[in-house]
Amino acid sequence: MGCHGGFNLDEATRRSWYNPDVILQNLHSGMTFADVGCGDGFFSILAAKKVGDKGVVYAVDIDSSAIAKLKTKAKAEGLRNIVARAGAAEDIVFCKACVDFVFYSMVLHDFTDPEIVLRNAKQMIKPSGQLLDLDWKKMENGFGPPAQIRFSEDQASGLLRNAGFQVVDVRDAGSYHYVVSAKPLP
Ligand SMILES: C[S@@+](CC[C@H](N)C(=O)[O-])C[C@H]1O[C@@H](n2cnc3c(N)ncnc32)[C@H](O)[C@@H]1O
Repeated sequence: MGCHGGFNLDEATRRSWYNPDVILQNLHSGMTFADVGCGDGFFSILAAKKVGDKGVVYAVDIDSSAIAKLKTKAKAEGLRNIVARAGAAEDIVFCKACVDFVFYSMVLHDFTDPEIVLRNAKQMIKPSGQLLDLDWKKMENGFGPPAQIRFSEDQASGLLRNAGFQVVDVRDAGSYHYVVSAKPLP
């Protein structure tokens, strides 16, 4: 997948970097999850299995072929709880105060306007909800996006604060990634 720096991101590679189940450990049955910049939906599929029939996964990506792949995978797995749309994250608010988790996987630095995307997250998230930003550490590691376009933990945290979130946790997710967790301020 080109967006990951020109190499194929298969499940084994991804799981060698970090444990996706740990990243989604607080996602439970019946919850609503928004995977923004979802690609072909690795996390959307995982989240859909976790939230189950009573939950919903909203997924958006600007690449319509990625959304088509996600829909094909969801159908093959018998998952009927994913609402997937092709479009710019800057233009999409799925619903207001309705989402338990807004999630970005290795994508915040890719958006044309991360500030608008985060303001949309603030509209979608429930007052009790949480935002999770999984992203590349700002370093050269021989694969993934170039260090100069990556956001450091501090840069990502600053963007979140500017959009009306309180950063509650910043932690490593393996050697190459971090996760910033934030909750919406009233
Ligand atoms: C590095 S990939 C990550 C995909 C996915 N989150 C994952 O973990 O596999 C970045 C994705 O962001 C999408 N993207 C880039 N700009 C976007 C935008 N403005 N709105 C929505 N998606 C966008 C790309 O099409 C691509 O699928």
